[in-house]
Amino acid sequence: MAADLSREKDGRVEGWAAGDVAEVLIPEGALLAKVRDLGGHISADYAGKDLVLISILKGGFVFLADLCRAVSIPVSVDLMAVSSYGPGTRSLGVVRILKDLDETITGREVLIVEDIIDTGLTLSYLLRNLQPRMPASLKICVLLDKPARRIVDLPIAYRGFEIPDRFVVGYGLDYRQRYRNLPFIATLTQDAIDRLNRE
Ligand code: IMP
Ligand code: MG
Repeated sequence: MAADLSREKDGRVEGWAAGDVAEVLIPEGALLAKVRDLGGHISADYAGKDLVLISILKGGFVFLADLCRAVSIPVSVDLMAVSSYGPGTRSLGVVRILKDLDETITGREVLIVEDIIDTGLTLSYLLRNLQPRMPASLKICVLLDKPARRIVDLPIAYRGFEIPDRFVVGYGLDYRQRYRNLPFIATLTQDAIDRLNRE
């Protein structure tokens, strides 16, 4: 029922996640405006080229879905799944490929579409994995950039928002697999975190 969707209006959250959200960092409208803007730049930069958008499951799926519809040139879409090992909310940069690309990227223009770059370890691993496949180009488009904890410096061709060193959920990003379906980016209350930790 529409009334149960969790939405945000003037910083106030309604619906199922209302009690769990501490602060809305990026409202839905700002996300969609930014995605449209990124899509416009990507369409202009890759006009006439054989562009493959590659997203990393699961976090990137919402951003990819909106971004590919904001792109006004023909594109292919492909997906990878990786797992990074680390305690709780911190990744250690140890990455295992759970699902590889379906398509070959040799000689093609590749744009990695990621939800968030934190330490940079995941993306630096992916670049090292994809570069030997000899794409014509290999660039990064990231919605959220959390530079405070960066360990590996990476060239980011397209960046949505720079955010402070806070753990965020929504728009594809999860805490313990929840909150990916929030249409905005938010932080969680300690109560919500504690409750999920007990489940
Ligand atoms: P990195 O390897 O440290 O750059 O971590 C990137 C991955 O860690 C992202 O793709 C997310 O899955 C996860 N991650 C990092 N920060 C957050 C966050 O604030 N919320 C949810 N997931 C995050
Ligand atoms: Mg991710």
